[in-house]
Amino acid sequence: MFNGPALLRLAFLGLVSAVPLERTHPVTYSHWYDDELALLELSLLDPYPALGKPRLTFKPDGTFKITVFSDLHFGENPWDDWGPQQDVNSLKLMNKILPDEKPDYAVINGDLITGENTFKENATTLIDQIVGPFNAAGVPFSTTHGNHDNQKNITHQEEILREQQVAPLSYTRLAPNGVGGQDGPGNYWVPIPAPALVLWFFDSRGGFTANATSTAVPDWVDESVTSWITEQTERMEEEWGPSEDRSALAFMHIPPHAIIKVQEGGIDSTKNPGLNADTLGKGSVQAASDEPFWEALTSKIKNLHAIISGHDHGNEWCARENNKNVVFCFNKHSGYGGYGREGWGYGVRNFIFSSPDPKVPVQSWIRLEDGETRAHVTLDSSYGR
Ligand SMILES: *[C@@H]1O[C@H](CO)[C@@H](O)[C@H](O)[C@H]1NC(C)=O
Ligand SMILES: *[C@@H]1O[C@H](CO)[C@@H](O)[C@H](O)[C@H]1NC(C)=O
Ligand SMILES: *[C@@H]1O[C@H](CO)[C@@H](O)[C@H](O)[C@H]1NC(C)=O
Repeated sequence: MFNGPALLRLAFLGLVSAVPLERTHPVTYSHWYDDELALLELSLLDPYPALGKPRLTFKPDGTFKITVFSDLHFGENPWDDWGPQQDVNSLKLMNKILPDEKPDYAVINGDLITGENTFKENATTLIDQIVGPFNAAGVPFSTTHGNHDNQKNITHQEEILREQQVAPLSYTRLAPNGVGGQDGPGNYWVPIPAPALVLWFFDSRGGFTANATSTAVPDWVDESVTSWITEQTERMEEEWGPSEDRSALAFMHIPPHAIIKVQEGGIDSTKNPGLNADTLGKGSVQAASDEPFWEALTSKIKNLHAIISGHDHGNEWCARENNKNVVFCFNKHSGYGGYGREGWGYGVRNFIFSSPDPKVPVQSWIRLEDGETRAHVTLDSSYGR
């Protein structure tokens, strides 16, 4: 659907003289807007140009680098010295890694805030602190949200709205009404034009409601997301051409349920390098009700180089899920808040695309705060077999 701001922008630039009265299917518009759209590189489907966001592109040398932060857990124990010190430490890590790595895009993959410890009146101001390093480094980014971001005094929706307000380079969006289920509004995608790459973000929910009873929120991506994936991928095909010509990555805080079996099948330190210190079970992956989502994710989105989650701070590996033939990767615990153990360290996961060609393998590795790297993998069609 051609949205209001996009039309206004076109009208403002004198490229559209008449605003259509009738809202029909986007494809109907495209033939008579073609020249104007080419001029603006404004896609009917891509909202970011109309939102005034900078255009994301592969570098002239054909590369695109993504740095993934996760589990920052800001706002722990505001009543003692230890809590605020963890946020100082986390900010130091972010302020070191962002300028060092100079990514083309960054992701924070959930649990930005430890909501159990926050206060109703000022919880979202923690978001201002968290986006500071991205604002300072001028790095475009977006976020998913975790079980700790849905608590009595904070919700995913509140965090997203605040981030949109205080981070000019945030690409985070809310799903359309009716998509995402109870307390799961963070489902959206970000295209890196041609589009050569589409980054998908899903809301795996969890935690507790923000109302008086504070009841448990379902901890899986809601089934309503499946028809949205189908509809969105069809529209992308209509507007951008076959999905096979693009790459994709998918981010969600809590790993899909199917990843329990992947770990049970054996994590091999040569094939699947990186920490493997958290045993997966109930609560550490999405509930089995994520099955419809898992089916849609793995069948509708083509050239999906990896599905990336956090939540389990002691795991860092990538592995292939053989039933659906997809690669899953844990990211790296970045925040000094949240549980951890001596020696696990803090850092990020990097992905580097060396070409916009979706057939070219993607490299990924863990980078720790001090600069040490480990767990390098090449994600090609034979990885993890
Ligand atoms: C939520 O915020 C209120 C108001 O600041 C505070 O009294 C309460 O302790 C906070 N936490 C919970 C779990 O209610
Ligand atoms: C929010 O208010 C509480 C209570 O006054 C305070 O302890 C805490 O540090 C504040 N948090 C932020 C993020 O400003
Ligand atoms: C809180 O929200 C949950 C989930 O929507 C609902 O079941 C419960 O009745 C609500 N409680 C109150 C007091 O509104």
